Amino acid sequence: MRITSLVMTAAFVIGVSAAARAEDKGKSDVSPAELKAKTDYCKTCHGVSGQGFRGSFPMPRLAGQQPEYLQNQLQAFIERRRTNPVMFNVAHVLSPAMLKGLAEHFRDLNPKPLGGGPREFAAAGKKIYDEGIPATNVPPCATCHGPEAKGADAFPRLAGQLNDYVTKKLLNWSKERGQDPAKPDNSAIMEPIAHGLTEAQVQAVAAYLGNLE
Ligand code: HEC
Ligand code: HEC
Repeated sequence: MRITSLVMTAAFVIGVSAAARAEDKGKSDVSPAELKAKTDYCKTCHGVSGQGFRGSFPMPRLAGQQPEYLQNQLQAFIERRRTNPVMFNVAHVLSPAMLKGLAEHFRDLNPKPLGGGPREFAAAGKKIYDEGIPATNVPPCATCHGPEAKGADAFPRLAGQLNDYVTKKLLNWSKERGQDPAKPDNSAIMEPIAHGLTEAQVQAVAAYLGNLE
């Protein structure tokens, strides 16, 4: 009786401490110094606070991004479901623990939007964002991206995203996203929506989002 309960206690303790060790290991896979070295590197392109950067082409804002979406995109670059040579090179060396650490780091940043888009279109853009375009079956963006465009889980935050980046992505959706027919992904959800917008509508909604805090 005594022995049994001792063995059981021991088994319980071993079980718990093994689980605790596994958890420690998951965390210590990336040290704070390693994570900082990596985020410093990301910020050379994505901006010192992850607010995005306008270079010869727009580098998207990562600040405040939903971690699940951010990790999904890094994985999509690695698997070439999303084509971008720069980000393939950046992402394919990252360990799973690092992907998680990066996603959490950028989620917690909250700089002001870079802005700079044409503000005269913003009111028309807000209407599209809130109401969609019933005539062409474009649903309100807010139903998936949230009323304040903060996103949730696999639905990205769009608030504060660079207007020229948003424009480029929406106009090129089918050439850049979902590029592996054998591995369909969430990009399929956005495809008909991106196709349902005219260039002027894309520019309007992008102008609205680019200045949104
Ligand atoms: C040399 C410049 C450069 C560096 C360094 C860089 N990126 Fe990028 N990143 C880009 C560009 C350019 C894009 C836009 C790609 C596109 O247009 O599809 C991008 C896109 C992304 C996206 C997709 C964003 C979205 O809204 O869909 C994520 C996520 C991302 N980068 C994360 C990172 C992380 C994390 C690091 C650091 C480990 C990093 N990047 C380092 C240039 C860079
Ligand atoms: C039915 C849900 C849904 C609706 C409605 C929707 N989206 Fe999306 N959107 C998504 C999902 C899911 C993704 C992420 C796709 C992925 O992971 O590849 C996305 C991604 C995006 C992206 C890419 C973000 C980035 O950082 O690269 C943009 C831009 C975007 N949506 C704009 C819009 C706009 C503008 C509208 C309204 C006209 C809209 N979306 C309506 C589901 C939706």
